[in-house]
Formats: sequence, C-alpha cells, structure tokens
Amino acid sequence: MKLISKRLYFDYNATAPLAESVENYLRNGAFVYGNPASIYTEGREARKQISATFDYLKNLFQVPDEGHEILFHSGATEAINSLVKGMAMYASSQGQKFHFFYSAADHSSVVKQALHLPLLGHEAHVISVDSNGSIDPEVVIQKIKQQKGLKLFNFTQVNNETGVVWPLELAVKIKHATDCFVHVDAVQAPGKMATWNRPTYELDSYTFSAHKFGAMKGVGFTILSQALPWIPLHMGGGQQKGLRPGTENTQGIYSIKLALEELTGIFNPDVLKARRDDLETAIEKILGGAGQVAAKRAPQRNLNTINITLNRDIKVELLIASLDLAGLAVSSGPACSMGVPVASRVLLEMGLSERLAKNSVRISLGPKTSADDISRAKEIFQHVLSKTLG
Ligand SMILES: Cc1ncc(COP(=O)(O)O)c(C=O)c1O
Repeated sequence: MKLISKRLYFDYNATAPLAESVENYLRNGAFVYGNPASIYTEGREARKQISATFDYLKNLFQVPDEGHEILFHSGATEAINSLVKGMAMYASSQGQKFHFFYSAADHSSVVKQALHLPLLGHEAHVISVDSNGSIDPEVVIQKIKQQKGLKLFNFTQVNNETGVVWPLELAVKIKHATDCFVHVDAVQAPGKMATWNRPTYELDSYTFSAHKFGAMKGVGFTILSQALPWIPLHMGGGQQKGLRPGTENTQGIYSIKLALEELTGIFNPDVLKARRDDLETAIEKILGGAGQVAAKRAPQRNLNTINITLNRDIKVELLIASLDLAGLAVSSGPACSMGVPVASRVLLEMGLSERLAKNSVRISLGPKTSADDISRAKEIFQHVLSKTLG
C-alpha cells in the first residue's frame, strides 16, 4: 500500500484516479439500492441522487432552461454510437441520406463510425488535420456544403493523444456557415483546459465521460439540444424520457456530482500549466536532439498533456516498463496490439514518420499533481531516458 501511494500517476488522459469524495462515498456512503423509477421511499432516495446530479450539471454547465436534455449513459463510446446511428436512423425514416463528418484525429469511437454507416446506407467523410493537429474550418465548410441530406459534424474539443485544443468558435463558425448539426466530444476537457465548463449552446451536443475526471467508470453524460433529429438507439422502458432507457446507474451518476464538485474546488489552470511546462522543459533538455514534443506549435494546447516522440530505434514498451519500475505511470501514445505499441494513427495523420508515431510517450497530469511530484518525475525521466537513449 505504501509503495503504491508513492507511485506517480501521470496518465490522466486514460483515466483519472477516483476523487476523494467518490472514494469516501463508495466506502462509507449510505447506499441507496431502490430502483429510481419506484415511487416508494427507497426508489425516491435513488431518484434524489440522480436529480441532485442533474441539477448540479445544469447549473455548472449553465444549461438553458428550455430546449436541452441532460442524458446519462455508460460513457462516451455509447453516447457517440447512439447519436451517430440514431441520426442515421432518423434520416432513413425520412428517406434522407445521413452524412457524418469527422476528423482523422478523433477518438476511435468516432472514427470507427465510418465502418458502420455504409452498412446502413449512409456516408462518413473524413477531414484531415495539419501538422499541428488543427483543422481548417474553410475546408470543413466546403466539404459539408458538397453533400445534401441530414448532416452531423463531430468536433473534438481536446485531442486525447496530443492535448491539441480546437476552440469552440471554430465549430460555431462551421455550424453557422452550413446546415450541419455539431456534436462536441468534450471527454478530455474537464480539468484540462481553463474553460471546460463553459460550453456554447449554439452547438447541438456535448459528451463527457465520468472516469476521466475522478468519477466512476462506465458512466457519462451528454447535454443535447432537443432540435437535434435522432431516433434513440436503445429501446426499453421510459427512463430518461425514453431517450436513453434502462435503469439508471444511480451510484455512478451520483459520483459525477461528487467528482465535479471536488474538481471545481481544486482545479487551478495556471498551476497545472506551470507544472506541465516545468516538466516539459526538463524532458526537452534531457532529450536534446533525440526527440520532440508533438503538436508543440499547435495554436492551442490543453494544460496537462505532453506527448513526446523519440527519433531513435527504441522499444517504447520497454521504456514504459522502465518508467513503471521506477514508479511512474505514463502511457505509450498510441494503442497497443497484444502489448506492443503500434504507430499512432493521430501522429501519422499529422505527418510524423512511422518511427516517431510509434515511439511516442504520452504524459498527462492531473489537478492534484504537485510540485514535488514533478521534481520526482524529472529525476525518473533523467535516469530512465538517458539510459534508454544511451
Ligand atoms: C476524446 C475521447 N473520446 C471518447 C472516448 C471514449 O470514452 P469512454 O471511455 O467513456 O467510452 C475517450 C476515451 O479515451 C476519449 O479520450
């Protein structure tokens, strides 16, 4: 236990440690077990926790009183699948074609919709990113204007691998210039950029995933405009107005409120940025010419992510294992296949070489990362990187 508590966890983009308030709730909470749809006391107690979370989110994200829903679900993968295929079903029901626009740098839960949509008689259109991981809104607008039918554009506010931020104004510009609905993948925003809780309701929907900000896994929420035309993918009971039926995950949903209350209390964008910059500068110094920070020159980056790419013939999985042994948890940027990293799709799209895209290490800090954590991480990187790079 002591050893574990000394470890440095720098993989907040994969998942965040449980917020203290959530841990306490899970250990000591007066657990409600009633079905939130039941009208007797136990059911009403469960409903109270869901309603408290709903009210909290409505206030935190300044959701307008009219015209919007807040839907709880099992996380962003479900939400994105439901929305995209739900809009495709709606288009089919109207004898229309559905066109889904997404970026090559989006999360795989978005990108892989391109595999399903043609099976349903609809189309997906990929938009490229430049070497900074940015999109050109004029190119997107032209691409969208070329198609006729029902259209949705997925806009990833913060990239999970590189931390590149796309300002919401870009999405608003695209929305105003076209007849496209816009979904914002805001999964990587909470606690990682200063304006994470200030969405604009000129856009149609925002999806969040609870485990990325200290709440439980397998739960998330989407703020959705009622104007968005879709047919809910799931059929079932009448929960959540039938928009996402199924008995609600009461504890998971309540953990969202607890974790966000804690996050808003401790999140300090200036401190997080200073810690990130401190570590980044130290790593760049250790690397010298042996590596670089991906998307370093992006017009906007979030505050917690450093993605380093190494231009040496190394085995990145061994580097991650050495850092792990030294007590530091970081991620290989790209996904692994059978434990072996493959070249990052996102970095390849940004024009990096196969070698750089494969030899990538993603370091992502959290709101509680302390100055002492950064000093210790610097020592570990100095020791492990200089041995790896020889
Ligand atoms: C940008 C982004 N979108 C979507 C997802 C999927 O989220 P979930 O784990 O809730 O399915 C992730 C998770 O890594 C992500 O980083």
